[in-house]
Amino acid sequence: MIRSRILAAGGYLPADCVDNATLAARFGIDTSDAWIRERSGIRQRHLAAPGETASSMGAAAARQALERAGVGAEAVDAIIVATATPDSSFPATAVRVQAALGITHGFAFDVLAACTGFVYALAVADSMIRSGAARTALVIGAETYSRILDWTDRGTCVLFGDGAGAVVLRAEDGEAGILSTHLHADGRHAGILHVEGGPGSTGTSGLLRMAGPEVFKHAVTKLAAVVDEALAANGLARADIDWLVPHQANIRIIEGMGRKLGLPTERVVVTVDRHANTSAASIPLAMAEACGDGRFKPGDLLLLEAIGGGLTWGSALVRW
Ligand code: UT7
Repeated sequence: MIRSRILAAGGYLPADCVDNATLAARFGIDTSDAWIRERSGIRQRHLAAPGETASSMGAAAARQALERAGVGAEAVDAIIVATATPDSSFPATAVRVQAALGITHGFAFDVLAACTGFVYALAVADSMIRSGAARTALVIGAETYSRILDWTDRGTCVLFGDGAGAVVLRAEDGEAGILSTHLHADGRHAGILHVEGGPGSTGTSGLLRMAGPEVFKHAVTKLAAVVDEALAANGLARADIDWLVPHQANIRIIEGMGRKLGLPTERVVVTVDRHANTSAASIPLAMAEACGDGRFKPGDLLLLEAIGGGLTWGSALVRW
């Protein structure tokens, strides 16, 4: 059976690493290190330098993923970038990544599902690989949320960071690979987490707005449901999961899911303390870290889950 096997993951974080106290001082935010840590688990985040963009960071993450996979860029025939902060409205960030990697064949496009973007992009890539439309794909999450934050809104500006993560997928006949993906959206809740306007709107700020506690409530119930959906679809039990690789928005949501699944804390990949919420980049960045230190072993079962603006939410089960 042809599956999309994840060969390796890579990541990129901007050099400017800013802890909570420094962030508060730099942007004049009325907050405290204690509040940010207690409510979100975040200690620091990385912020893109003026010249850095989703495509430059995405290309850097892709290079690391390709190197770890032992795959040359010339083998890549599909590039899908999940981002809500593209370099420009068009061309897609993915074609900029393609050019940066020196690839001149295949196809490249972006997917927008906010913080669920990577899970959506993975699902699209998996479908295309299993249908034969692509053989080797790069799936990338890359974000520069620092550019859409309202630095006068302490309820959001302390929570996000910049970065990119990437995975290399290859069509392989075997047991390893993506077992299933499960995507959901409910646009009735668009107003609780959104960006005010954009290039197709007039008179808007272009800044991120979030009703945090409302999103929190949706996260707890919808993530639990989509995790159970993934397990049921594969006839698997919670005890079968080796690694939870969650979207990194809030340590309280992550730990709650870990407890629900009965996983010891060392089986949950956590980066939110150091990366903050990097939206579509958070899962592939977490995978890059765990891939880099050899945590994932062949045959391990990984559960990925995310929720974000839309609302969108989803999960994926992956055999490493
Ligand atoms: O990635 C997409 C998915 N996103 C999420 O999953 C985010 C989900 N939401 C959350 O993670 C949490 O709701 C937050 C971390 C955003 C907020 O935590 P909370 O416990 O829900 O706090 P809150 O928004 O209810 O605010 C509690 C208090 C308020 O003060 P009062 O009204 O109780 O006096 C806020 O004004 O904390 C205040 N506050 C702050 N204080 C210091 C809000 N932001 C800050 C801040 N520093 N940065």
